[in-house]
Amino acid sequence: MGRYNTKKTGLRSMKKYFFFLSFLFVLPLCLLHGWQRRFQVQTAINPSSFRNLTILLWHWPNGRSLSLKGDVCWDLYRIPHCRLVDQRSLFPSADVVVFHNTELARQKLPIDLPRPQGQRWAWMSLEAPLHNGNLHQYANVFNMTISFRRNADVTVPYGELLPKEAEGHLVADVPLNKSLLACWVVSNYRRHHKRSKVYQELKAVVPVKIYGRYTKKPLVPKSLLPTISHCFFYLAFENSITKDYITEKLWRNAYQGGAVPVVLGPPLGDYKSVAPPNSFIHVDEFSSVKDLGKYLQQLAEDKKRYSEYFAWKRQWNVKLYKDWRERLCKICLQYNNLPTEKVYPNLEAWVNDNNN
Ligand SMILES: *[C@@H]1O[C@H](CO)[C@@H](O)[C@H](O)[C@H]1NC(C)=O
Ligand SMILES: *[C@@H]1O[C@H](CO)[C@@H](O)[C@H](O)[C@H]1NC(C)=O
Ligand SMILES: *[C@@H]1O[C@H](CO)[C@@H](O)[C@H](O)[C@H]1NC(C)=O
Repeated sequence: MGRYNTKKTGLRSMKKYFFFLSFLFVLPLCLLHGWQRRFQVQTAINPSSFRNLTILLWHWPNGRSLSLKGDVCWDLYRIPHCRLVDQRSLFPSADVVVFHNTELARQKLPIDLPRPQGQRWAWMSLEAPLHNGNLHQYANVFNMTISFRRNADVTVPYGELLPKEAEGHLVADVPLNKSLLACWVVSNYRRHHKRSKVYQELKAVVPVKIYGRYTKKPLVPKSLLPTISHCFFYLAFENSITKDYITEKLWRNAYQGGAVPVVLGPPLGDYKSVAPPNSFIHVDEFSSVKDLGKYLQQLAEDKKRYSEYFAWKRQWNVKLYKDWRERLCKICLQYNNLPTEKVYPNLEAWVNDNNN
């Protein structure tokens, strides 16, 4: 009886082993097959994936041009079939013509040129609405938008978190040589800014060290992050409060500087959709700035709880976007998802709409 049982279990475990093995071999094959099918379907319905897209940049942002030699999108960012050009003579063959908003104030749109069938005109800006000027004149002109807004046709954030390939170690990532409670780097200090009021109230409760052009002792770029690394908290306070406007103050200064960001900007939900929970503290989470101050003080004294604010580093890497070419190449990644026909009837309204 005992023997029989043993035999049976032995057989069963052999069966299991067999199943396991076939699973091991068959699963990758299935995945590969599914993936191939998807790929085939995509190439079949998207003729544009056969050819190179041409993205024409009408003027370089702020007059600073960059090299477009070679296959830039592929060479620098591994984005295929994406030809980035800045010669206006290529207008007739461009799939997308990109207009950076700042330059439009001085140079008018080529509305007299016949727009080829299917060509899209893109409006591009990384500025908060306040600094875009009057956009009423651009009603029914643009087919797409390129901005930090999540609902833009091509979203170009100031930074983002990308998943790490292998989990790192938490201990090494928590910077603990801290001597300052809260720090703020500010160049453009305006008393009427919401952030200035919060700063004034906060420094009445806890010490806040300030740096930057406003203090007449600006930090040189290379000492920015080392300076911030000595602070428990960094005030990542945006100067414009507008939907999705989350700048390098979060991504670079706080996250890369190794201080816990205290954020003031768009609502909590906007941050939650791009940043992991427990990686930042939002000013709106407190009923008063005084409560916020108390919380920061308590957190700085609780090593364990404080270090939990760095747990995200095990899974995520910070990616900053600085090169216009990378943003422009991203158009090609989105191109096949764009609606065949789209016009912005009221760009000014879209830019100022804080609700969607
Ligand atoms: C697309 O661009 C690449 C790189 O410039 C080039 O080698 C290739 O021939 C182009 N393909 C087509 C179909 O034009
Ligand atoms: C901690 O920071 C101070 C400067 O504030 C520096 O002199 C010291 O070497 C640092 N210690 C470690 C272990 O990094
Ligand atoms: C782009 O917008 C123009 C209106 O200015 C329109 O005539 C054209 O059909 C649009 N093209 C696409 C591809 O949406």
